[in-house]
Amino acid sequence: MKIAIIGTGYVGLVTGTCLAETGNQVTCVDINEQKVTMMQQGQLPIYEPGLELLFHRNIIQERLFFTNNLASAIENAQIIFLALPTPPGENGSADLSYVLGAAKDIALLITSYKVIVTKSTVPVGTADKVSAVFEQYTDVEVAVVSNPEFLREGVAVEDFMKPDRIVVGTTDERARRLMSELYAPYVRQGNPVIFMDERSSELTKYAANSFLATKISFMNEIANLCELVGANVDMVRLGIGSDDRIGKRFLFPGIGYGGSCFPKDVQALARSAEDNQYDFKILNSVMEVNAIQRKVFVEKLKKYYGGNIEGKVFALWGLAFKPETDDIREAPALYVIDELLKGGAKIVAYDPEAINNVKYLIGVKISYADDHYEALQGADALLILTEWSTFRTPDFDLMETLLKHKVIFDGRNLYDLDKMIDRGFYYNSIGRQVVNQSEKKTA
Ligand code: UDX
Repeated sequence: MKIAIIGTGYVGLVTGTCLAETGNQVTCVDINEQKVTMMQQGQLPIYEPGLELLFHRNIIQERLFFTNNLASAIENAQIIFLALPTPPGENGSADLSYVLGAAKDIALLITSYKVIVTKSTVPVGTADKVSAVFEQYTDVEVAVVSNPEFLREGVAVEDFMKPDRIVVGTTDERARRLMSELYAPYVRQGNPVIFMDERSSELTKYAANSFLATKISFMNEIANLCELVGANVDMVRLGIGSDDRIGKRFLFPGIGYGGSCFPKDVQALARSAEDNQYDFKILNSVMEVNAIQRKVFVEKLKKYYGGNIEGKVFALWGLAFKPETDDIREAPALYVIDELLKGGAKIVAYDPEAINNVKYLIGVKISYADDHYEALQGADALLILTEWSTFRTPDFDLMETLLKHKVIFDGRNLYDLDKMIDRGFYYNSIGRQVVNQSEKKTA
């Protein structure tokens, strides 16, 4: 099939590359000329495990192309994907100007039936708005289809190639057939392509992300309660997760969810409910809990130092909003850094992938280490903010020699409490007993 992808951000690039991989002819369009030139030369502008291999293969085998010429890209395309940004607008609802602008540009160029697919996360009713733009600017028939993505950063290629499900919102029979054909290779293992109306499909995306965010906020509250009643959240998590109705995944407490999706989508759904005179109480609480959770972490730290962290040196392990990505959008680490700096502390940070993005954002206000051990040199405490695998089994002997004090505040529960007791660390994690309270006196 011939496909055009409008927008070569994260979603557009992964979608385009993975669609090329199964034999489609894919042309990706972007207005950023520099970026297009870069991609034409085989350079991938984002970090995503596994993507580079497919990206190169499909460029070499001439199935994946890049251009800034919209007209040439869509001329022969049967399906046009809109993978454009939908940033939060003034009041928290998604800003549709990029999506609607592209729809107009496409409408003015097309001469034959096209399936227009909105991949971006868009509020309910957007397919109708996009259809209205086409009706206004062209007589050519189009089907506007909602096809939300459920890609997780870090495993996006795997998620695209073997999705749990694919949701397609369309009431147009021709579009349904084309989408069915397009996605057949990705669901060979038997997972469903679920067809529904456009509005239900649009809402499905928000409902999925909001439900997952709810699970996380719920567990963060359970963790906070565990600390108060002397329970261990690891045990509670195992205890409830084994029930199929609850499920094992997404029950990890921490310092709150971040990233480009959850915070934005939960907010947008709450706003959309409000616009429809519905007070979505759970979602408002989910957001509130998430905002509090990162504060709770900083407050614990401050309390340990009797409210004064001025002049303290903190080693930070992890800056990205989660492992296997260089993405720092809405990363809890940024909040923590801000609060520590306000308190007059010094920070030496390390992250396997996100350092450059943080340098670009906040520059020399903090120091950066080349590896995780270097960050510990002379630090008063280690703060773990992202659960990168490299942090899971560190050389504790070496850590003891580097840290000024054996103090760890772990926002991601990486270590066994018993191990920390044996090692004599002061260890403060989430929803679990604080280890070696006595160390406090010598700190
Ligand atoms: C998410 C959805 O998973 C994906 O389906 C959607 O399309 C986009 O948003 P992503 O933002 O890449 O993907 O990250 P994800 O792995 O879902 O994690 C989101 C946040 O939740 C991270 O900050 C993570 O640290 C946090 N999280 C996740 C927890 O705090 N606890 C958990 O148990 C799981």
